[in-house]
Amino acid sequence: MSKRIKAVLVLSAFILTTIGVFPALAAEKVDVRKMAEDMAQFLLSTRRLLAQNVDIINTHGAKVGEPLPQNAPYSFKGVIPAYMGRVIGEDFFKNTGIQVKQTTLGKGDFGPRNVYNAPDDWEKEVLTRFYEPSYPKGKGYGEEQEIEGKRVYRYAFPLYIEKACMKCHGDPKTSPTGDGLDMAGKPMESYAEGEVRGCISITIPLAEAA
Ligand code: HEC
Repeated sequence: MSKRIKAVLVLSAFILTTIGVFPALAAEKVDVRKMAEDMAQFLLSTRRLLAQNVDIINTHGAKVGEPLPQNAPYSFKGVIPAYMGRVIGEDFFKNTGIQVKQTTLGKGDFGPRNVYNAPDDWEKEVLTRFYEPSYPKGKGYGEEQEIEGKRVYRYAFPLYIEKACMKCHGDPKTSPTGDGLDMAGKPMESYAEGEVRGCISITIPLAEAA
């Protein structure tokens, strides 16, 4: 793993942990909705920055903030925003008990790229609302739920296709291997910029009332 990726992971884990722990110490009553909203934004920023830096990560000799070297060898390093989001989420869960997931209903014949990201019933319902053209852009949804007798706060925030996502999720005609597959070897789904791609889904365990 390169130093740059390690630095991103360490920084992400640190800031997410701070966001998760600090309000509990600072405020008597934690605003769980605000905490979930901010966590979703943080993962969104991490994912966005990874997507924007895909060519820097994969191009030999490339550096952040400098133009990409011309005609340099390119090799895909496996840094996929959703995959990194997943491993960061798994690590974060171990330390906090808060679940962070990325999920989707897919598009047309394309379901989730990875079954790990398949939505559960609550996520399916919320995603269906996010996909409705009349749903306000950039609006999250959260509510208290009971899972296996335990109270949790569930929050979902829609994920949209941005320019940097098009390399892998855009027009199959732009496939780097010319066969409709992206650099990770997955079929490109013809998403357009601005389209809903799925959501970030957060589950925060709530303390039982005394
Ligand atoms: C380098 C190629 C690449 C880029 C760039 C990329 N993705 Fe993906 N995306 C993938 C792959 C591959 C998967 C499947 C990951 C896995 O197997 O865990 C995936 C999975 C996902 C998922 C999880 C749901 C599913 O289908 O499994 C979401 C949501 C997602 N991508 C959204 C985005 C968004 C939004 C962007 C831009 C910010 C983006 N992706 C940029 C390759 C990419």
